[in-house]
Amino acid sequence: MSVKDIVKRHEEWRHRCLNLIASENVMSDEVRTLLTSDLGHRYSLRHYIDDNFYRGTKYIEELLDYGEALACKLFHVKYSDLKPISGHIAGLSTLMFLTNYGDSILTLDIESGGYPGYTKDYLPNRLGLNVDYIKCNNGELDLDGIDINKYKVVIIAPSLVTFPPRIEKLSKICKESNIPFVYDASHILGLIAGNAIKVPDDIDIMLGSTHKSFPGPQGGIILMNRYEDISDFITLKTVDNPHYNRIAALILAMEEMSEFGRAYAEQIVKNSKTLARSLDDKGIEVLGRELDYTETHQILLKQFDNSKEFIYKLEEANIIIDNGLRLGTSEVTRRGMKENEMKHIAELIYKVYDNADISTVRKEIEGLASTFNAIHFTFTVRS
Ligand SMILES: Cc1ncc(COP(=O)(O)O)c(C=O)c1O
Repeated sequence: MSVKDIVKRHEEWRHRCLNLIASENVMSDEVRTLLTSDLGHRYSLRHYIDDNFYRGTKYIEELLDYGEALACKLFHVKYSDLKPISGHIAGLSTLMFLTNYGDSILTLDIESGGYPGYTKDYLPNRLGLNVDYIKCNNGELDLDGIDINKYKVVIIAPSLVTFPPRIEKLSKICKESNIPFVYDASHILGLIAGNAIKVPDDIDIMLGSTHKSFPGPQGGIILMNRYEDISDFITLKTVDNPHYNRIAALILAMEEMSEFGRAYAEQIVKNSKTLARSLDDKGIEVLGRELDYTETHQILLKQFDNSKEFIYKLEEANIIIDNGLRLGTSEVTRRGMKENEMKHIAELIYKVYDNADISTVRKEIEGLASTFNAIHFTFTVRS
C-alpha cells in the first residue's frame, strides 16, 4: 500500500465512471500541467508594507496583473482578485471585510437552494452575524416584507440551482440603500462566463468557486465593481500564500472560457434539459417540468422512497451523483457528450432504477465513459 497506489486506483476507477456531481468538473491537460509548474513552490507577498516581501517574484507579479485583467474582461467587472483558495474562502473574506460583530446579513434560504455555509450555524456564527433568509421559487426572489436597511450585507448564494435567482431588482434595491450586494455564483460561474446566465452590469461583488461549472482548478475568485479594497484586506487575513500554480492554471482556464465559453455553456444547458426530459419521460420524476426543468448544469430529481439505495446502486454501476439527488452535466459536457449521449445516460440510469443487473449496466457505462475521455472546449483536444 502506498499513496501512489491509492491515487492510481482512484484515477483508474474514476476514469471508468460517468461523473454527474454538479459541484465538480475536469480541467484540460494544459491547465492540469500548470498545477505542477515551479510556481507551486513559490511565495510572493505583494504590497506588504511598501514592497513585495519576497524577491524572485517578477514573473509572478506579471502573472497576477495579466490574470486579474483577464478576469475583469471575461466577467465584465472593474476589479478582480484571484487569491481566495476556494469559493468558501472568497465568501469568508468578503463577509469579514464588509461586516462587524453583531451585524445582520440577508441570505438565500436553504429550502430555496441556498448555500448552507452562510446559514447561522456556519460562517456567520464565527463572525458573530445574525442571519435572515430570503425565499426563492423558480428564480423569483420573494422580496415581500424585506426591510433592506436592517442588513449590512445581502449575499445570494444558490447551491441547488436549476433556475438562477433573478437578482436584478434586489441588487438595485441594495444599491439605492448603499448596502453591499454579493452574488455567490460558485455553481454557475462557467455559465456566466459563457453568457448563458446574465448578471447585472453594475453588480457590486460576484464571487465563487472556479471548479464547478467553471472548468478551472479548485479555488476561488472575487469580481468587483465596488468594495475593491477586499483585495488588500485578504492578504494575511484570510490568505497568505495564494498558490500561484493554481492561479496560473485558473488564468489558462479563463483563456479557454474566453475562447470556447459560449459554446460550452450553451451545450451544458442543452444537455441538462435533454437529460432531465429523458429521465422524466422514463418515470424518474424531475423537478421543474413546467419550466423545461432547468436553465443550468443542474437537474433535481424528486425525492422518493429508497432514493438513498438508488444513489448507492448508481455508484456501484459507476454513475456518480450526490446524496441530494442533484445531477450535473458540466463534466460530461466537457468530455464532449451531447444530446444523444444524455438520452443514453438517462437509459442507463433508468436501468439501475429498474433493478437491472448492475454488472451488465456497469460494462455499458464503462464503454460510454471510455469513448468520451477527450476534454473539449480547450485549445488542444486530447483524444
Ligand atoms: C454557493 C456556494 N458557495 C460556496 C461554496 C463553497 O465552495 P468551495 O468548495 O469552493 O469552497 C459552495 C459549495 O458547494 C456553494 O454551493
